Amino acid sequence: MNAELEQESSDFLAVVPTPLQRSLSIIVPTFNERLNVIPLLEGLRTSLHGQDWEAIFVDDDSPDGTAPLLRELAQNDPRIRCITRVGRRGLSSACIEGMFASSAPYVAVIDADMQHDERLLAQMHQMLQAGEVDIVIGSRYVAGGGVCHWRTHRVLISRLATGLSARLLNIKLTDPMSGFFMMRREVLVGAVDRLSGLGFKILVDLFTSHERPLRFVELPYQFRNRHAGDSKLDSGVAWDYVLLLLAKSLDRLVLGRFLAFSSVGAIGVLVHFAVLACLHKWLTVPFAAAQATAIAVAMVSNFTLNNELTYRDVRVRGVFAWWRALLKFFAVCLVGAALNMGLATWLYQLSSTWWQSALAGIVAGSVWNFILSKSAIWGR
Ligand code: GDD
Ligand code: MN
Repeated sequence: MNAELEQESSDFLAVVPTPLQRSLSIIVPTFNERLNVIPLLEGLRTSLHGQDWEAIFVDDDSPDGTAPLLRELAQNDPRIRCITRVGRRGLSSACIEGMFASSAPYVAVIDADMQHDERLLAQMHQMLQAGEVDIVIGSRYVAGGGVCHWRTHRVLISRLATGLSARLLNIKLTDPMSGFFMMRREVLVGAVDRLSGLGFKILVDLFTSHERPLRFVELPYQFRNRHAGDSKLDSGVAWDYVLLLLAKSLDRLVLGRFLAFSSVGAIGVLVHFAVLACLHKWLTVPFAAAQATAIAVAMVSNFTLNNELTYRDVRVRGVFAWWRALLKFFAVCLVGAALNMGLATWLYQLSSTWWQSALAGIVAGSVWNFILSKSAIWGR
């Protein structure tokens, strides 16, 4: 803030009758939760007794009248607020908008249906105030946590989703699917430029969007049964999750690398023709031998350029490691060439035009080369 603005704001605050310094905002996304709102608020009052908190409900115009009830309650308790969104749906985006509607230094997210254990909130708040961590997460999968009465298929789906986020996005949480956590508001500020807001899984979104690794703690809790009403989890939620995984994996430098990798591939084609022309045209080396040499030279050139440019930050160093990586690159590209050849021939026989078949082969071969060389050579 510049000096003038600072002065103005302190003049302004000097005449505010009772300063309201909310330390904690609890964001509650709701869709058809009319019967759960009062039990939840009672739980919050009890477990946060004596602390300075507010609850911000973000309701997507629930047909059951959740919002009118909330507004009525808010008339009598200034700690309650309700944001209504019309013509929109989405759990993550509701949470993000709720957080932005708060000015508190700490923000929590909790479901309205009493499945999360609101008694943890006070402890979460204390841990954050101590300053050692950025975010405290309620987890069902650390010792002491659990789920009551979940059917096996739901447990399996939850495990699968967790495994995917660990593998693809490198998230090291036991329960990244959790929708129950508290964090400093800087976490939101540091992540907001890259947040996708897609779907149900805000925590995965936050962890992959933040500019630096987040310091976190997980607290165990028992995931309870829903107090009233029905879950909104459906197959659309799974689809949204796949989209989020895709968006975030592509996001993680991969798209930029793929473009760099493809440009190197295009340079490789030029190198190939240059070598072929020299050997075959000018030095009259027989075609097969000239072509084989050109392939080898182009591969070495591609490998070197990728190692020095595309993967500069993780490049392979040392003579032995370099040769080993080159051999791996040869192996990957040979299979890529076979894939290219096989697909193109097959499409051509299915009566695609020659250039369509060739293009499909080239794309498949490049994607193969890119993915495999990344995981075999530069992926660690
Ligand atoms: N505003 C808004 N918009 N709120 C929504 C929407 C929406 O489109 N969809 C769901 N909600 C609210 C619900 O009203 C509830 O308060 C909360 O989001 C969670 O929705 P549930 O339908 O209760 O989800 P769940 O019980 O299947 O999933 C829960 O478990 C997951 C872990 O397995 C949620 O807590 C998830 O956050 C959690 O990750
Ligand atoms: Mn629920």
